[in-house]
Amino acid sequence: MASLSQMKNPLLVGTAIRAQLEHEIPRDLPLEKDFKEGSGYTITDHIDELHETLCKNPRTLELIKGLTHALHGFARQTKLTHAEWAATIDFLTRAGKISTPARNEFVLLSDTLGLSVLIDELEHPKPEGCTEGCEPGPFFIAEPPIIKSGGSLSAPGTTGERMWFSGSVRDTEGSGIPDARVNVWQADGDGLYDVQYSDPNIANDRGCIPTEHDGTFNYRGILPTAYPIPSDGPVGDLLKMLGRHPHRSSHLHFHITAPGYDSLTSALYPSHSPFLGTDPVFATRKSLICELVEEKDSKKWKEMGFEESELQGVSRIWVWKFDFVLPTVKQVEDLKKSIQA
Ligand SMILES: [Fe+2]
Repeated sequence: MASLSQMKNPLLVGTAIRAQLEHEIPRDLPLEKDFKEGSGYTITDHIDELHETLCKNPRTLELIKGLTHALHGFARQTKLTHAEWAATIDFLTRAGKISTPARNEFVLLSDTLGLSVLIDELEHPKPEGCTEGCEPGPFFIAEPPIIKSGGSLSAPGTTGERMWFSGSVRDTEGSGIPDARVNVWQADGDGLYDVQYSDPNIANDRGCIPTEHDGTFNYRGILPTAYPIPSDGPVGDLLKMLGRHPHRSSHLHFHITAPGYDSLTSALYPSHSPFLGTDPVFATRKSLICELVEEKDSKKWKEMGFEESELQGVSRIWVWKFDFVLPTVKQVEDLKKSIQA
């Protein structure tokens, strides 16, 4: 184990380390044991000992310990080769290079490997009867424009067929939750989100709708269509290798918050959409698939709040209804404890 004088000796330590020692002196340890596969003391044991001795944050220690065990276990189980690991590092490097503020390849990787949905299930387990959740995907914006219930989510000229969404946010007893914040975002009738258009700063097909006193809300919008997740990068290549496609079913995204309740990130799917059973990001659930109704009575369209200018050439309005059920924070905490017990 090196002494402080050894650490500062210019014969033993280069300029870069000596400069760093001006600010922080690292702790050194004696090398007592060699590690070897199959010897009863492996690299996994050695790295555990090192981290347990040096790491001061228990949660960091727990996370890194779990990660190194999983990675080492993966290498042992698959007899991973240098060439295969180099290809993996090249894959991750390409994922980093293709990522931009508007497109994060690592989010796609997490989603397509089912990790995002698993983390959501672990952090937000749903008591019986509560609406199931899923990951927000890459197009979530935390503070979209506020839109009063009954308003329009879509700008004039937005591509797609007209849709009227009517819903409510309720507790597990069935009571409406007033002033819950319903953040909605969706693709248009061409399968594109507002941020994918030439001016990504113009919000469209998204908004935050506060619920009415009885927990209900509704809005006028556009029926979304199916679209592919970005597939021109390494994640797209991986999906091809796995025989999978990148296409997501049509859907509406929701992120719902209310004081005292566990926040819900979820999405709803029309039963007519393709790709429900092969979702590349594993976000579809049977309970989130909705039967839509085509309303052809123009008198009803006015009752929904549609204006004359929105109805040019319209022959039907798609009516989409859904009631969300949110658990309280305490219900979720109690459920987590019972799952761990
Ligand atoms: Fe989406």
